[in-house]
Amino acid sequence: MTVTIVGSQLGDEGKGRVVDLYGASADVVARYQGGDNAGHTVVEGGNEYKLSLVPSGVVRGKVGVLGNGCVVNPDTLFDEIDTLRERGLDPDVRLARRAHVILPYHRVLDGIEEDVKSDSDRKVGTTGRGIGPTYEDKAGRRGIRVGDLLDSELLREKLEYVVPQKRALAEKVYGVSMNEAIEDSSDGLETGEAFDVDALHEQYERYGERLKEENMTVEAGEFLSSRLDAGDGVIFEGAQGTLIDIDHGNYPYVTSSNPTAGGAATGTGLSPGVIGDGDIIGIVKAYLTRVGSGPLPTELGGVVGDTPDYDEQGAGKNEDLAEYIREEGGEYGTVTGRPRRVAWLDMPMLRHAARASGFTGLAVNHIDVLAGLDEVKVGYSYDVDGEEIFTIPATTERWGRCEPNFRSFDGWPEVNWSEVADEGYDAIPENARTYLEYISDELDAPIYAVGIGPSREDTVVLEHPFEN
Ligand code: IMP
Repeated sequence: MTVTIVGSQLGDEGKGRVVDLYGASADVVARYQGGDNAGHTVVEGGNEYKLSLVPSGVVRGKVGVLGNGCVVNPDTLFDEIDTLRERGLDPDVRLARRAHVILPYHRVLDGIEEDVKSDSDRKVGTTGRGIGPTYEDKAGRRGIRVGDLLDSELLREKLEYVVPQKRALAEKVYGVSMNEAIEDSSDGLETGEAFDVDALHEQYERYGERLKEENMTVEAGEFLSSRLDAGDGVIFEGAQGTLIDIDHGNYPYVTSSNPTAGGAATGTGLSPGVIGDGDIIGIVKAYLTRVGSGPLPTELGGVVGDTPDYDEQGAGKNEDLAEYIREEGGEYGTVTGRPRRVAWLDMPMLRHAARASGFTGLAVNHIDVLAGLDEVKVGYSYDVDGEEIFTIPATTERWGRCEPNFRSFDGWPEVNWSEVADEGYDAIPENARTYLEYISDELDAPIYAVGIGPSREDTVVLEHPFEN
């Protein structure tokens, strides 16, 4: 039995809660894409753990797998594992030998390219973790993989090929001096060391030794299919969201991997049939938020000066309401603390997400945040270039010209949500249920869970895939 968890919007939909909820009954939690760009906080037994790479289920004693579709920074990996051990846990993490390795020069190049782009307003706002440059090298067939770290000679050969290219790119194209300190370097690295074959070989050979000693690497497809054959429950944890998917997202303001459900097959080595035989749960926030620039047709309000290109977009703007929802929902970036832009739910976006991933169920979060409003709106279609459309256009420019057509729902009152959590779905205020059922009908997928408060306990569960 498998359950794949996919963000249906722009990330930050509350996937962690659902992974936690269903992961409690799973045996293995596997990530299939992304790297240490996915920050989440896990609270277990009164302790708080901040993780960005290791799957959160590891904190609860599950086997964590980083699939071949992931990009792995060994520095972050071992740092997270050591921190968990210091706090008395015994994390069991397996790494696909086919996964690509993030090296220090990837992080440096990520920063350089963002700087260059910011001069021409094309900055993506990446996490600066080297994610894009590592996937570039994977596609360019010059990447270093986890399996390469296990063979010192092979690692040296590969570094000798790739590092001079990267150094030339940094120095000759971008004019970077090799004596500068690297911003955000945890180990005080200088740029020159990030582009030095000997230094890199020494450090990454050591990582390889540790991976061998701790027997951490696997052939991910084989490992996962043997666990499934043995009857284990496996969760595939997507990081980020559909609109940040490299193929199906708001290109170029995307991450460099596939958070959509297809990524769960290519990123683990299991077949699409295995993924499709299981549940694919779309995580939906009851409204919409976005960090940084880019279109947001149903926008209520953003941060002044944040979105100069799209300030005209969004017929239904209401800054006060945006501010209210931002405060109620705690809509501030977890890492940067930046206020998130706030928008009404966007149905063209959700239809696109449901089609791309084939949701068999939905988890809708933050329904409590909208309580107390007189009316709640949903953008159900767009008008653009003289026509009405029902899913999101392929280009960012056309999406930026879309004006939403809204459907209005009566609001629901503030209630004692802890009591609702105890009593179940029927205790959710009727108007909120009408709203949930509208989303479910539109996306042709049943509601599996409803988030009604910030903590894990504040969840109304209608379906539990591992317990049916
Ligand atoms: P990268 O993944 O660091 O290359 O960043 C590319 C884009 O994806 C940027 O807009 C990031 O803000 C966004 N992004 C990456 N990880 C997350 C996440 O976990 N949640 C929300 N946005 C993310």
